Amino acid sequence: MIETIKTKVENQYKQNLSMLEMFKSEVESGLNSSPKTLPSKYFYDKKGDALFVEIMNLPEYYLTRSELDIFQNKTQQLIDVLDLNPDTYFELIELGAGDGLKTKKLLRSLDAQNFKFDYIPIDISVNALKLLEQDLDRALPNVSVKTKHGDYFEVLGSLKKSKKPKVILFLGSNIGNMTDELATQFIYNLGTNLQNGDKLLLGVDLIKPKKIVLPAYNDSKGITAEFNLNLLKRINKELGGDFNLDNFEHRPEYNEAEGIAKSFIVSTVHQKVEIKALKKTYEFAKGESIHTEISRKYNDPIIEKIISKTDFGLKTKIMDGKEYFADYILTRH
Ligand code: AVJ
Repeated sequence: MIETIKTKVENQYKQNLSMLEMFKSEVESGLNSSPKTLPSKYFYDKKGDALFVEIMNLPEYYLTRSELDIFQNKTQQLIDVLDLNPDTYFELIELGAGDGLKTKKLLRSLDAQNFKFDYIPIDISVNALKLLEQDLDRALPNVSVKTKHGDYFEVLGSLKKSKKPKVILFLGSNIGNMTDELATQFIYNLGTNLQNGDKLLLGVDLIKPKKIVLPAYNDSKGITAEFNLNLLKRINKELGGDFNLDNFEHRPEYNEAEGIAKSFIVSTVHQKVEIKALKKTYEFAKGESIHTEISRKYNDPIIEKIISKTDFGLKTKIMDGKEYFADYILTRH
């Protein structure tokens, strides 16, 4: 259900209602599970968005800077491997655009070389899209920007309508929040909505030692802890919960052999928590955890395995100077 941000308030209202219903049912099933879980996609309310911006600026959170290094210093390489034809109009579609800082480097270069394209950023946050649109209007007035608001799981179908060649940007290791199975499904679905020769630029964090990865999820200022615990605050606010945040703490883990960082919220005491909207009370043992996020890290074999079950072929990858991060370029065949 993708719509331009100009669409009626009505639709917005409907969508918000169903989002609250979704939130309710996912919180309920997560807290009924054993071990308890909560989905990471609910980190991103207004407060969560702001905390994530803070995270991106933390010295320990190398991911954003690493990918920016690629977009800033290997821009021409990116353009070359995307095989773009300067005479053919194409669509540059970004899933989960955020502030578009990295993409702006690419847009500037495409614009300077007179490529003809629409930039179509898709984001769940109307606010982020508005800011991005305003910023691009000022910074790159010649670039055609067509924002779309929605959940990118829902946009796949709407891509089909246009037959223009497409480049999909899925950056920031956002795919890392999915299990490999879900990532495969997601990329497979993406492929069914594209045409031969269309490209997917997939930005992923690479597997590396614990001493580099773990601090990115356990920063010294405690911003990541606040980001994780904000999920409980959100349940308190939107679902009438009574989580006492003093009785829970953030616990990150990273297993280098597996290549997955995991975040948990741990109950520091034995306690009960009521959630009014669910008409339920949940019991937490001292030390019991709620699994809130996976942040998967990748290497070539993992990417190849995921891709092998989709209609994409691996073209190449471009890494930052420290080789912390990679943008894989995949072609739909
Ligand atoms: C936005 C999914 C890439 O997993 O690294 C940052 C989110 N979580 N700190 C990540 C996040 C904790 C981030 N992604």
